[in-house]
Amino acid sequence: MKKIVINGANGYVASNFINELLQKNYRVIALARSNTKFSAEDRMKAALLDMNEGESVDFSNLEVHDYSLFEADFSLQPEELETIFGGDVDYFHFAASLKFDIKSKEEIFGTNLQGVTNSVDTFLKYTQSDSRFFFVSTAYSCGNIKGTFEERFYDNAEIDAFRNYYEQSKRYAENVIRKYIDEKGLNACILRLSQVVGNNQTGVTKTDYGIFDFSKRMQNIALKYPGRKVRVKIDPASTQNLIPIDTVVTYLMSAVKAENAPVILNMIAKTSITNADLLRGLGELLPINLVPDLNLQRDEMDSLERIIAVGMSFTGAYIDTDISFDTTQLDSIVKDEVTAVTPESIRNMLEYFLNGMASKKSGQTLQNVG
Ligand SMILES: NC(=O)c1ccc[n+]([C@@H]2O[C@H](COP(=O)([O-])OP(=O)(O)OC[C@H]3O[C@@H](n4cnc5c(N)ncnc54)[C@H](OP(=O)(O)O)[C@@H]3O)[C@@H](O)[C@H]2O)c1
Repeated sequence: MKKIVINGANGYVASNFINELLQKNYRVIALARSNTKFSAEDRMKAALLDMNEGESVDFSNLEVHDYSLFEADFSLQPEELETIFGGDVDYFHFAASLKFDIKSKEEIFGTNLQGVTNSVDTFLKYTQSDSRFFFVSTAYSCGNIKGTFEERFYDNAEIDAFRNYYEQSKRYAENVIRKYIDEKGLNACILRLSQVVGNNQTGVTKTDYGIFDFSKRMQNIALKYPGRKVRVKIDPASTQNLIPIDTVVTYLMSAVKAENAPVILNMIAKTSITNADLLRGLGELLPINLVPDLNLQRDEMDSLERIIAVGMSFTGAYIDTDISFDTTQLDSIVKDEVTAVTPESIRNMLEYFLNGMASKKSGQTLQNVG
């Protein structure tokens, strides 16, 4: 069985993938960072234990290495890298900055561009020719595209073609991979994920990205001003492409199993959820009446609505999106059934997430106020 090497391994998506790989008896080498308090190994194991909600995890096929994404040879010894990358390897590059604002531009491009370049260089230096490089990108590298986003490369573009620097950095990184494919024969596959949410079967949600970040903000407001009606600048009919983490894992496993993985795979959800459904779910869970109004002007907002609008600087870029994604290549490799989110399953995820937030704050859980 081939060996799977993964960087950014303790992150949300990567650790869910590793959990499945270990359950299917793959040998996994995880590259993660240590921090001032915990070793890379402790952080990796903590992520796996957290997602299994206290159940025991078999770590016998897992090896963890502390690395530095930006340093030559990841700051590891050549002998260690020969062991990591030796043999038939599928290498997944997950590490990324998910920030988006102009203040973080240097960090975003440093991690998402220089980090990727160093990762490919290290991979090419230490692997054998059959090994594959999987780059985890985002479906939102599409930027402000009109029409269908196809499973092919798109040229680099200036920032006004994107919603934020995160999207632009991922487009640039995809084109770095394209150059390595063309010039150095890199055996690569680009995996474009849409917005990843919780587990569609269990509702367990361990991410606070995107809609969960928005719901956390709404929860804070609902706790301070219970029962308030608040207008938010959102198009109720527009949709969010939300992909459950269990579906993402099935897609990633399909990529591992595919003997000839296509160069680009749009790993997105086949059905989307409307903003109206999301706001309804939140309204049932929190004592707040959220009223979508895409035409709401800043000078019509009250002070609370203005605070919310500022807090929506990221989510706000996605309030009126209806992007169509081609998935012909994805469909050609996925043999297993996957599920898509429904208004009910997303509500379960929101409930799990908000309960976790509430109990962190006050030791209490939410009541269903709907
Ligand atoms: N979540 C989504 O909805 C979504 C959607 C589309 C695409 N993606 C892509 O999926 C991948 C994983 O996302 P995620 O949601 O799992 O994010 P995450 O939980 O924030 O994980 C990000 C990982 O990257 C690592 N990382 C960040 N900066 C680093 C650096 N300078 N050096 C080394 N490691 C660094 C983090 O390590 P530390 O813990 O040490 O900081 C963490 O392990 C990313 O490439 C992201 O762009 C995610």
